[in-house]
Amino acid sequence: MKVTAIGTGYVGLVTGACLAEMGNHVVCLDVDPEKIRVLNNGEIPIHEPGLRDIVRRNAAAGRLQFTTDVDHAVQHGTLLFVGVGTPPDEDGSADLQYVVAAARSIGQRMTDYKVIVDKSTVPVGTADKVRAAIQEELEKRGRGDMPYAVISNPEFLKEGAAVEDFMKPDRIIIGADDEQATLLMRALYAPFNRTQDRMLIMDVKSAEFTKYAANAMLATRISFMNELALLAEKVGADIELVRRGIGSDPRIGYQFLYAGAGYGGSCFPKDVKALVRTGAEHDVTLQVLTAVELANERQKRVLVDKVVARFGENLAGRRFALWGLAFKPDTDDMREAPSLIVIDELTRRGATVAAYDPVAVPEASRVLGPRDDVSFLRRAEDALQGADALLIVTEWKEFRTPDFDAIKATLKQPVIFDGRNLYDPKLMKALGIEYSGIGRG
Ligand SMILES: NC(=O)c1ccc[n+]([C@@H]2O[C@H](COP(=O)([O-])OP(=O)(O)OC[C@H]3O[C@@H](n4cnc5c(N)ncnc54)[C@H](O)[C@@H]3O)[C@@H](O)[C@H]2O)c1
Repeated sequence: MKVTAIGTGYVGLVTGACLAEMGNHVVCLDVDPEKIRVLNNGEIPIHEPGLRDIVRRNAAAGRLQFTTDVDHAVQHGTLLFVGVGTPPDEDGSADLQYVVAAARSIGQRMTDYKVIVDKSTVPVGTADKVRAAIQEELEKRGRGDMPYAVISNPEFLKEGAAVEDFMKPDRIIIGADDEQATLLMRALYAPFNRTQDRMLIMDVKSAEFTKYAANAMLATRISFMNELALLAEKVGADIELVRRGIGSDPRIGYQFLYAGAGYGGSCFPKDVKALVRTGAEHDVTLQVLTAVELANERQKRVLVDKVVARFGENLAGRRFALWGLAFKPDTDDMREAPSLIVIDELTRRGATVAAYDPVAVPEASRVLGPRDDVSFLRRAEDALQGADALLIVTEWKEFRTPDFDAIKATLKQPVIFDGRNLYDPKLMKALGIEYSGIGRG
C-alpha cells in the first residue's frame, strides 16, 4: 500500500519504517530539513534500538523515502499518518497547531480519496478539528465534495522498545466511522495481527480517549507507588518488598509499580496535564489525576531532598556524580527528564554536577546549553572522580552491577543516592557504602 508518514519523530519514523518493512511504499515527511538530511544519509536522529537497520534496509530497497516536499508526500499516500508533536500549551492543554497545520497542508493538495490517520496523541474531538481544517482548504479550492476519511489510530509504543512494540502490538486501536477506511487499516495492519486479532475498532472519540486513559493509568500507578514509598521510608518498610507483595496479585500485576525519581518523557507528563485540562473544560475535576501530577512533581525532587538532608542546604564547593540523564533507559529523549530537575536543584544550591549517560549526553548538553557547573564524562567511573556522592537517576543496565569497590575508592566518601532502587541495601551496608534508595526504610 502507499503510505505517507507526516512527522518523522519517534512515532512517525517508527511507523513509517515498520510499515515499509512489511512491503508498503512509505514516504516520510518532515518540516525539519536537518532531520530529513540526516535520514537521507542513512543516520537516525534519535536513539532507538533496532531502528537504524530497518530504516537502512527499506531505504535501500526503495520502499522508504524521506522528504520535505509536501506536494510529493501528500500525493503519494492513500493513507496519510499524522504523527506530529502535540506539546503542552501554557494551560496544560495539548497544543494542536502542528496537527492542524498538517491537516491544512493535506487539504491544500489532495486530489483523490485519502484516509487521514491521527496517530499523534490528541484530545477527544480532534478528528473533527482535522476534518474541519481539511474541508475548509478543499472548499477554498472549489473541491469541497472530495471524499476522504479522518480516523484515529493512537500509538502505544514505548521509547527504547519502539520497534518491538510496533511490530508486536498488544492491541491496535482504530477509531473510525468510515467502512472503506476501516478495511484499508485492517489490510495495512494484517501482518502485525496474524497470530490473534488484536484490532479493536471503535468510534473516533473513544479511540482518542483510550490513549489518554492508558497513559493516565500508568502514570497513576507510578505516582501511587512513589507516594507509598515516601511513607514506607518513614515507617521502616521496604517498598521493593511491598511491590513484589502486591504485584503478585494478578488483579494488580507487576508492571509500572516501581518507585523512583519520578516519571518524565514526552508522554506521561503532558498527557496527564492535557486530560486534566479536558476535564476542566467540561466541568469535570479529575481529582485523581491532579494528585498524580502533584505527586510526580514532588517526587522529582526527592533525591535532592535526600542530598540536602545529608549535606545541608548550601552545596557550594560540593561536586556530585550523576548517572543517567535520559528520562528512561534505551533512549536519548530528555523531555521532562527528572535529571534536569536534579541538576537544576543541585546547581542552584552551589554544587557542580559531573554527569554520565550512555547515549543522552549530546541531547542533554543541547538542552542544558553551555554552562560551567555541569560537565559530561565519557565513562561512568570518570564521573565519580572527586565527587561527594553518586546519584543514580536512570536505570541503564550498565549501572546495575558496577564495581562497588571502585565506587568506594573513587568517591570522596562512599555515599550513593539511588533514584531507581538498583542495589540491595543490605549489600551496600556490608560493603560500607552509605546508601539511600527510594522508600527503603
Ligand atoms: N514519543 C513517544 O513515545 C510517543 C508514543 C506514543 C504517542 N506519542 C505521540 O505521538 C506524537 C508525536 O510524538 P513524537 O515523540 O514522535 O514527536 P517528535 O517531536 O519526536 O516528532 C514530531 C515531528 O513532527 C515534525 N512536524 C511538525 N509539524 C509538521 C508538519 N506540519 N509536517 C511534517 N512534519 C511536522 C517535527 O519536525 C518532528 O520531527 C505526539 O502526539 C506524542 O504524544 C509519542
